Amino acid sequence: METVVLDMSVQNSYDKNLSFATDLLTKGNIVAFPTETVYGLGGIISKEETFNQIYSLKGRPLDNPLIVHCSTVEQLYSLCFSVSTVLKKLVSSFMPGPLTVVTKKAVGIPNYITSGLDTVALRIPSNKVALDLIERVGEPIAAPSANISGKPSPTAAKHVFDDFNGRIPLILDDGQCEIGIESTVLFVEDQFVSLLRPGTISIEIIETVLQSKINIPTEKSVPTLSPGMKYRHYSPNAIITLVYTGKEAVIKAEKSSEKVMILLPEEISYIEDNYSNAFYYSEKNIYSLFRKADSENYSEIIIFVDQSTIEKMGLYNRIKKASSK
Ligand code: TXA
Ligand code: MG
Repeated sequence: METVVLDMSVQNSYDKNLSFATDLLTKGNIVAFPTETVYGLGGIISKEETFNQIYSLKGRPLDNPLIVHCSTVEQLYSLCFSVSTVLKKLVSSFMPGPLTVVTKKAVGIPNYITSGLDTVALRIPSNKVALDLIERVGEPIAAPSANISGKPSPTAAKHVFDDFNGRIPLILDDGQCEIGIESTVLFVEDQFVSLLRPGTISIEIIETVLQSKINIPTEKSVPTLSPGMKYRHYSPNAIITLVYTGKEAVIKAEKSSEKVMILLPEEISYIEDNYSNAFYYSEKNIYSLFRKADSENYSEIIIFVDQSTIEKMGLYNRIKKASSK
């Protein structure tokens, strides 16, 4: 199969490209599409056969459910069993945007989307191509991130192409993702809210909006609430070593006989001239740096984690997961 990549920044072909994507989806095919967080591998929720393909292409365990992407609040509410005031507050404050809510599902949402759970994960992306696509097909699009399971998530069409060339019919290319790490996932049950996956929306902001504390499960208890969190994620081939002082980073890099990449927080104001393998990292580029390390055969990545990184809960979570064995 040839994988077609269509550039969505070209205005005069935008509409034609959307129609092509819509046609593929309606016939039960997979389309990779951009969101503001990472690229998704999508199918329309009524087509079971699409999801058999998505799970097998990604090598994704069947017990790991998908996020359903909607284009409007009404569409999102139609997929919920009931809509609590807390859910309404979250939706009106953060959607469209990088938030996913997991809540009891409406009757009729197929088990192949939710891995048989009675809850469903829902979000409204803010990326225009994603919204236009969902609106055009007239049905929600369920999608996991468009990477092979265990690889870093894709933040550019090229990453999707590298993982799935020849195995999916279409990638809608909308350039680099604005945010670069996956959405914040919250479990919402009536007035009770738990953090299942940190992202770029901080706990403080969520608690300010809700005017109450949310539950932050321990790392051990998260996997029982959210199946995907038990799997090892986001891993480059290189060994990742975290260091907590700049000095330690330099010493480790000098001692190592391997090809070493050094990653520094953006807040550090300089990279010394003699470190051509040093790069600044942020939420936006961390996954593409991991992919660069793989494609350029780095055997080790030393990441300097400072206070500014620790405060970015989503970023720190991804770095820790990538470094865990
Ligand atoms: O930013 C994002 O969320 C991206 C873009 C494409 O929207 N999507 C994404 O999907 O990261 P994925 O499949 O890589 O991660 C979905 C996460 C998994 O950890 C999964 O276990 C959790 O959401 N999840 C989905 N449905 C759930 C449910 N009913 N209960 C608990 N966790 C759920
Ligand atoms: Mg993923």
